[in-house]
Amino acid sequence: MHLITLIPGDGIGPEITKAVTDILAAAKAPIQWEEQNAGQTTFDQSGELIPQALLTSLEKTKVALKGPITTPVGKGFRSINVTLRQKYDLYQNVRPAKTTAGLTSRYEGINLVLFRENTEGLYAGLELFDEHLGIADSIARNTVAGARKICRAAFAYADKHGRKKVTLAHKANILKIAGKLMLDACAAAAAEFPHIVYEDKIIDNMCMQLVTKPEQFDVIVTTNLFGDILSDLCAGLVGGLGVVAGANIGDDMAVFEAVHGSAPDIAGQGKANPTALLRSALMMLEHLGEHAIAERIEKALNATLANKAECTGDLGGSASTSEFAQHIIAKL
Ligand code: NAI
Ligand code: MG
Repeated sequence: MHLITLIPGDGIGPEITKAVTDILAAAKAPIQWEEQNAGQTTFDQSGELIPQALLTSLEKTKVALKGPITTPVGKGFRSINVTLRQKYDLYQNVRPAKTTAGLTSRYEGINLVLFRENTEGLYAGLELFDEHLGIADSIARNTVAGARKICRAAFAYADKHGRKKVTLAHKANILKIAGKLMLDACAAAAAEFPHIVYEDKIIDNMCMQLVTKPEQFDVIVTTNLFGDILSDLCAGLVGGLGVVAGANIGDDMAVFEAVHGSAPDIAGQGKANPTALLRSALMMLEHLGEHAIAERIEKALNATLANKAECTGDLGGSASTSEFAQHIIAKL
């Protein structure tokens, strides 16, 4: 039995979380949930955005499944996602993008995984504004150790999953120092895994290649800002943010999450699509070594996605969140 922290989140979070936990229970996944919430709802109830009880649970279980969270708008509220990533050094943001039959897409044959550095670069939180001079400085802080860790993680993943190629997306032609840091780190990782093809591409060309010939990519590795943008671009190639998974992984902790937001416009109406959170839960099962159960649920999910009538409104169907979950459960 795996003890896992469950963070339902805000808005549609509780609805999609219920759908996902129902499906995992029906598949007899050996998981015991420890529920701890964070976000707007929690803040309204307790005045805390991230309660200590949640952090204590995470430090014990080391694995969490997290729904979308609303960060209250206003001064002093730091994004919960960024806080957890930095506090626990969840330095890998892993975002698979794979063609799925039945989902609207202009492409075929896409099967890539993006590794985004998740704690450094422009998201290091080093911003200053000089009101007198009218100058805003946003400092991208990259470390040799951080660059090495994310590049090595991408190659190690490729090696473990039988993937053939790693592409580094960078801007070393302009960012002479930070860009070179990534080029050097990736070259060192590539030398450790000589059977994996290594190439690098400048980020602007990378974007063009991704929207013209995305099927050429296998594993992609990049820095925080480029990765943030590329990961949503890749989601758009295969059906959108409602259907892709995401994971924040460190050396001893992992938080699996829906990558879309809390969708306040449809919250509480039974319209939300739980696919993104379910796919993140499947990544979590893989992480826990429960490969057979993950595969069984994935098959049932894909068979459901292939039949529009059984899908939620965002995918062109008319099923409610719980009906969609029941269609998956019926196929297990
Ligand atoms: P959003 O992703 O919540 O919604 C954008 C549009 O997509 C809406 O029309 C929504 O109805 C639809 N949508 C999103 N997920 C869906 C699903 N599973 N099924 C069906 N339709 C879905 O983005 P928005 O409106 O920009 O942000 C809303 C709130 O979510 C904000 O407070 C934002 O800070 C937060 N947010 C949280 C994230 C996280 O916790 N990982 C990520 C992005 C936003
Ligand atoms: Mg993003």
